[in-house]
Order: sequence, then structure tokens, then C-alpha cells
Amino acid sequence: MPANKKLLILPGDGIGPEVMQEVTGILEFLDRRNIATFDTSEGLVGGASIEAEGVPITPEVVARAKGSDAVLFGAVGGPQWDKLGFDCRPELAILTLRRELGLFANLRPATVLDALIDASTLKPDIVRGLDIMIVRESTGGIYFGEPRGIETMADGQQRGINTEVYTTSEIERVARVAFDLARQRQGRVCSVEKANVMESGLLWRQVVTALGARDYPDVALSHMYADNCAMQLVRNPRQFDVIVTGNLFGDILSDLASMCTGSLGMLPSATLGAPDESGRRLALYEPIHGSAPDIAGKGIANPLAQTFSLAMLLRYSFDMTEEAAMIEAACRSVLEQGLRTGDIMQPGMTRVTTNEMGAAVRAALERLAA
Ligand code: IPM
Ligand code: MG
Repeated sequence: MPANKKLLILPGDGIGPEVMQEVTGILEFLDRRNIATFDTSEGLVGGASIEAEGVPITPEVVARAKGSDAVLFGAVGGPQWDKLGFDCRPELAILTLRRELGLFANLRPATVLDALIDASTLKPDIVRGLDIMIVRESTGGIYFGEPRGIETMADGQQRGINTEVYTTSEIERVARVAFDLARQRQGRVCSVEKANVMESGLLWRQVVTALGARDYPDVALSHMYADNCAMQLVRNPRQFDVIVTGNLFGDILSDLASMCTGSLGMLPSATLGAPDESGRRLALYEPIHGSAPDIAGKGIANPLAQTFSLAMLLRYSFDMTEEAAMIEAACRSVLEQGLRTGDIMQPGMTRVTTNEMGAAVRAALERLAA
């Protein structure tokens, strides 16, 4: 019998542990119904790790993540740790995992479910059926470029420095992920940079263009400056299929795209590394909503993004397409029943807590698996 897949669960801070608990309930369901059993373990990250271990992530947790078939991540950060230096902030946990595991392709879907069309701040006609995939480079660019730091100059002023830097191979491998995804979708890639002002952006455009012409002539490639892309995402988001962009622009544009859908609380993400010789590829899955300290501990957070993240994990890392689809269908069905957490509440719907939403998803799963 093949060994169970190793799954590392890192709930983190704020609403992370609350929403993760609902997902743990789904893992128990899969196990109890003999659908799937995983070799799961938990670890501390972010503020939780700072409190217990003095650092945002320990080498032991990084090593366990490297040895896992997939990592399910909650969220990190909170106001109590905001004053710490960059070398020990909670956010360093996710940045370290991306960097140490070589997770360079951050996939951030922005899809609008029909049941939630009124939750968007954009008009229903603009967002109906929206289905964008942002592929954000996540181990390079200005997040990691050297030199960086704050230095004191001769005149006593201080100067803060960060460096945007991309190499040919970094650009190529993330663009490849985008082109491959486009082939399974509508066959269109829009590459986003600021080639009009930045050398790194100009190289980005040249490399993506050459790769597209050489290996993906069947995929329609377009280019857009990042500022225009922000504008187009609000003006007419459905023009996009796959967007590929660098770390910083991807950070900003993915928040923007997610808001077109109406709720950050709904969206999952995957961050993938390169496949090794055996085809195994390290991967981390996380909701994009963050730790939401303002609502943490109140039991009102939306657990659906974490739940969709589990579905993405099953699909991309474990090839469990049917189980992933079943979990997604369960989430859609509770929304169709009119259940809503506060973040997606609409007139005439029933407001539920985190636990109630999780329980409703599990009840829907029981029905779907019957
Ligand atoms: C994200 C977050 C992170 C980032 C933070 C928490 C470091 O905003 O995943 O988008 O900037 O990448
Ligand atoms: Mg962000």
C-alpha cells in the first residue's frame, strides 16, 4: 500500500486558526468516510511562533515543510508584532517558506460565483462569470533583491533601499506556468510590468515574448503596463484570462482582482515550486485574506477561502480532482442555501458564524458523498 500523503498544517495567527479548524473538520470527514487519509502534522508560524520560539518560523518547521507533499497555510501577522524589525516579523514566515521551498509561482484565482454576484462593489454586469488567474512571481523581484536596507548618509539623512531584479530564468519559469495554465483555460496570457520605466520590466517583456513565440505559439500573448492593468481590472475585468507578473505588482493586482469578486474571504491561492525528477513539486496553499486581526477571536470569519484552498491542494498536489470538486460543490451549495458570514452578508440572507458555516459545509459533504 502506498504511504499516505504528508500534509503539514500551519494555522498561524488571527483568524488563521479559526478557519483552519473548519478545514480540519473536512479532513476528519474524508478520513471517517474512507475517502482519503493523510499523514497530517501541525506547526507554528508567524506571531504564534514568535511567542513560543522567538522566531517567526523555526528551521524545524521549514524542514518539515520541505518533507511534506503539501503545506496548508492559514495567515500570519497582527498589530502586536507590527513594531518588530523585518528580520523577525510574522510575515517572514511565509516569505521564508516561499524562498526556502523555491515556491516561485503564486496562483491567485479571482472568480465570481453566481450566488455572490451582488457582494461585489462592481456592477453585476461587469463581474458576472468573472474567472481570472493571476500568476504572481513569488521568490524574486523587489521582495528579495539586493541591495536593501536603511542606511545613514553623510548629511545625516537616512535612505531606504530596495532593488527590483529579475533574471532570464526566473522570468521564463514563471511565464511557463502561466502559458501552461492558459492552455487549460481560455488560451490567453497578459504579461504585466512597467517596461516603459524599468529595465527589469523591459527584460521581463522580452523574455516572455521570446518564450511565447518559441514554445507557446498557440497561446494569445498580450502585454500591459501595471498601472493600466489596475485600471482595466476595474473597468472591464473579464477581458483577462491569465495574468502573469512580478512579485510586487502581483501582490497589488491580486488584491485588486480579488475585490472585483466581492469577498477576500472567498479566495484561495496556491504557490508552486518546480517539479523534481520524480515529478513531485513542493506546494503551499493559503487563503489570500490574511490574518484579519480586527475580527479574530470573534468566531465570525469566513472559512470558505481556507476550504477552497484545501480543494486547490487536493487538485494540484494530490490529483484528487473528484474530491476537490465535491468540496467546491459543498461550498457553493451552502451559499445557495443563503448562508453568509458577515463579510459576504446581503439582505435576505442568513448570517452565520465560522463554526456554523463549517458545519453546513460538512453537512453538504455528507449529502454529496452519500
Ligand atoms: C500576500 C501578502 C504577503 C505578501 C505578506 C503577508 C508578506 O500580502 O501574500 O499577498 O506581500 O506577499
Ligand atoms: Mg498581499
